[in-house]
Amino acid sequence: MKTITIAIDGFSSTGKSTLAKQLAKHLGYIYVDSGAMYRAITLFAMENGYITKEYFDVDSLNNSLEFIKLHFEFNANLGFAEMYLNDRNVEKEIRTIEVSNFVSKVAEISQVRAKLVEQQQAMGKDKGVVMDGRDIGTVVFPNAELKIFMTASSETRAQRRFDELQAKGDAVSYEAVLKNVQERDYIDTHREDSPLVKSDDAIEIDNSYLNKQEQFDAVLELVEEVMNS
Ligand code: CDP
Repeated sequence: MKTITIAIDGFSSTGKSTLAKQLAKHLGYIYVDSGAMYRAITLFAMENGYITKEYFDVDSLNNSLEFIKLHFEFNANLGFAEMYLNDRNVEKEIRTIEVSNFVSKVAEISQVRAKLVEQQQAMGKDKGVVMDGRDIGTVVFPNAELKIFMTASSETRAQRRFDELQAKGDAVSYEAVLKNVQERDYIDTHREDSPLVKSDDAIEIDNSYLNKQEQFDAVLELVEEVMNS
């Protein structure tokens, strides 16, 4: 069986990371959450006062990029790799609605994207990787053997993210989550550099009515087809 690269792209909260983690575990592949990297840079920008509701000091962020060190560390208890920003575990902090509210603005910056795409390509150079994000099949791994594009209605996605945040004890309203999902969809699909688009050779999966197991089974069939071809 061939060792392949699996690229999973799609809108926010479509269950990309759930699927990617299941596949990586099943196949013994590395899972890379590219969104976590954009979120970590966003947290850095927030902590340094470069981005607030009122303004965004893009130059200062760009000038600081060389001082931002990102790495993932596998946590055996959780079963996935956690995000580290300058050697600090930021896995929890990067998932808050505050970071979500700024991340798509940070992800529009070409210098930020160039830095992260280079790191992502290095992580996948030996294949055997499942990476999820917005530009994985189009920009990071245009030659990936399997590309999946995930969709679901914005209400379904907001409800999923709301449930997730509530379970973590994050006091946030459904309306705020829906607004965030819709705003990020807009920015992510309209930005100039690497917008979220379905690659021509990606297979689209609308999982509005699929549970996790059904979704996994459907994609695993595709994976096995590609691996055996
Ligand atoms: O998990 P969720 O769907 O909320 O998003 P994420 O994968 O954590 O990504 C957060 C944000 O990072 C997205 O809304 C994009 O603005 C940006 N992103 C990107 O531009 N390119 C990627 N490859 C991954 C994320």
